[in-house]
Amino acid sequence: MKIPFLIFSILIPAAFPTSADGKQIVLETGQLRVEFEISDEKTLSLKEMGMKDGSWVSPLGGELFPTEPHRDGNGPRYQGPIEWRLPNGDRAAELLYESHEIQEESPAVRHLVVQLRERVYPLEVELHLRAYKDVDVFEQWLVVKNGLSEAIYVPRLDSMYFQAEAERSIFLEWYESDQKNTAGYPVREKLGMGMRRLESRDGNRHKHGPIPAFVLGFGDQPGESEGGCMIAALDWMGSSRFSFETNSEQILETSVGVNQPGQPLVESGGQLSSPVCVFTLSGKGKGPASRGLHDWAREHFLKNGKRIRLVDNNSWEGCRMKVSEDAILKMMEDSAGLGIELYVLDDGWFGNGKEARVNARAGLGDWQFNTKRFPDELDAIMKRAAELDIEFGIWFEPEMINEKSKLFAEHPEWVMRYPDRPLAEQRDQMVLDVANPAVQEFMFESVDRVLTKYPGIRFVKWDANSNINNVYSPYLGKERQGDLLNAYMGGYLNVMRELTERHPDVDFQACAAGGGRADLGAMRYSHTFWPSDDTDPLYRLGAQWNFSNFLPANTITAHVTHKGEGYGTKFRFDVSMMSQLGMEVDTRKSEPEYLEASEVGIAAYKRIRNIVQLGDQFRHAHPHDSETPSLNYVSKDETRALVLAYQTGELEEPLAFSSPVSGLDPAQSYQLTEINLPEADGSPRVVSGIASTKSGAEWMAEGIPLRFTNQFDSAAVLLEAVGSNPGGSRKQ
Ligand code: DGJ
Repeated sequence: MKIPFLIFSILIPAAFPTSADGKQIVLETGQLRVEFEISDEKTLSLKEMGMKDGSWVSPLGGELFPTEPHRDGNGPRYQGPIEWRLPNGDRAAELLYESHEIQEESPAVRHLVVQLRERVYPLEVELHLRAYKDVDVFEQWLVVKNGLSEAIYVPRLDSMYFQAEAERSIFLEWYESDQKNTAGYPVREKLGMGMRRLESRDGNRHKHGPIPAFVLGFGDQPGESEGGCMIAALDWMGSSRFSFETNSEQILETSVGVNQPGQPLVESGGQLSSPVCVFTLSGKGKGPASRGLHDWAREHFLKNGKRIRLVDNNSWEGCRMKVSEDAILKMMEDSAGLGIELYVLDDGWFGNGKEARVNARAGLGDWQFNTKRFPDELDAIMKRAAELDIEFGIWFEPEMINEKSKLFAEHPEWVMRYPDRPLAEQRDQMVLDVANPAVQEFMFESVDRVLTKYPGIRFVKWDANSNINNVYSPYLGKERQGDLLNAYMGGYLNVMRELTERHPDVDFQACAAGGGRADLGAMRYSHTFWPSDDTDPLYRLGAQWNFSNFLPANTITAHVTHKGEGYGTKFRFDVSMMSQLGMEVDTRKSEPEYLEASEVGIAAYKRIRNIVQLGDQFRHAHPHDSETPSLNYVSKDETRALVLAYQTGELEEPLAFSSPVSGLDPAQSYQLTEINLPEADGSPRVVSGIASTKSGAEWMAEGIPLRFTNQFDSAAVLLEAVGSNPGGSRKQ
């Protein structure tokens, strides 16, 4: 494997269209427009960002690299997006415009690069902004190039920086991540005077702290279809730092980037790139912004973005580490009978002797099958899987190591640890020094060996159950500790890139003790992520909803497990239907009624999953704002739609409720079918006696009339086009 150390970017020069007077730079998507301005003093400012047709303009604007020293006298002191430290102790950054170019990377993608140069020293900065015309999304990042004859330190190189007028209120929405309920509740706050900073410091994930994504609402809290807003997400898996500061002149300064634990070093002639920040704007609420991001992810970002994610059953919740060939064979057979398409063997299959993985204290790093539990490794299981026509998946945690492992005995130097301190452990494990190319090679080979031996494996769950606790890389040595996060992340990406290239048919799932890797950084080479170990459906309803602000439904794994029995099986399946549905059940200990209802739920999901996974999502009332949250999905060709509605509040008497529908073709006729009605709970929720076929215009005006009889009731309703309706009018 070739292991580049830092994250570098390469640019092929191309044509250079510029505006008439050479002082503006304009970049557009299908609907959005960004205009930069170059002042006579050669400073670069954002002049305007908003809708191309002028129907809405955001309050964003102002200098993009506010300079220090502050040459404009008595104004507020802005922090800007970059901090560096030069060999002579100078920390100022006066960045002046030099040139720019716009490449047409493809018919849909234009890439602007603005070159800036430090006023006094030979240091260059590139501002990169890539515009996706088809989905109205931008990617932004910065690159620093060191032309000095000595190395410099760059403790902060943020990805995105902007100022905004804050005379009208600005609202911030973000998502907490904690041990249990990752992203369960959106935090919504009005930004006041002073600094609001969101930081995570876990290093390799964000298990404690904010998920690296946020929504800004301009003027008011944005709704789903009204209000100006920005949604942004950082393509970074580790510690992040978002700062929002409103100053005495009512200007908001926002900077988004990595939270470095040290100071990265850039050698003479070297360069450092920030991760990418992905963002979009909308004048009409969060709905269009999220749909743009979903399309961007599926079209331009994810691996196999439009490959349908399968219905899986994972061994973890059902049997924890008590797995064996016999147990898996039985559960896989039962699963195939329920209509499950993929069986996943989770933790507990590896390690031998004293280091057998029978509990969390041993085995991590020894990626050999436990010969007592799996005497034929996967031979019998893969053979049976083929007979049953079910796919197979397996769990790994390649970045981690237990002290009780053969790997630790052989390579104690591969562990992240301070030179003289005792090791700190979390869940009895430590983090490998992923900056080290030899460790990257080991990680790659451990997974590749199993996938190569068993080419039938279709899925890998990649877990990470510890933060970086001993924040010291023996490989980097004492001079380069500031590069630790960049080198770790670069190493992780190298391994994932190689594995996904070598095994293109395998789907990878990002997991970090639950939802610690619900971010774009982990999703660059993953197909899905595991949102949380909490599978309580009420919590999941909120979390899946919140994740959907910035990630598409086909990435969000939603398992029905043994938890939450009090809600009823239909409700649990209807909640999972809004994302990538699967299960985590030990079929051997499940009641027949539960399995029967599961079979109905799985069949219903397979009927509509193309709409959910690949269509447009229209969210209506949020689960934390309403006791009847609902949403709907529409296929891209507008011929099929799925409406999901939930009753979360207590009910004293039955409730008549009209569930909203958006995004249909008004001129089409759509026929309604209620789905997921298990035998034990088969009474329809759609009010009987209504016309089952109406035009899209009528369904959207009237909604779907439902009747809920108890708390945790729910409905799943399919609408299918049956021809055009002469009375309807074409959608604009
Ligand atoms: C944490 C994950 O979130 C679980 O789903 C499971 O894979 C365990 N780790 C296994 O140790």
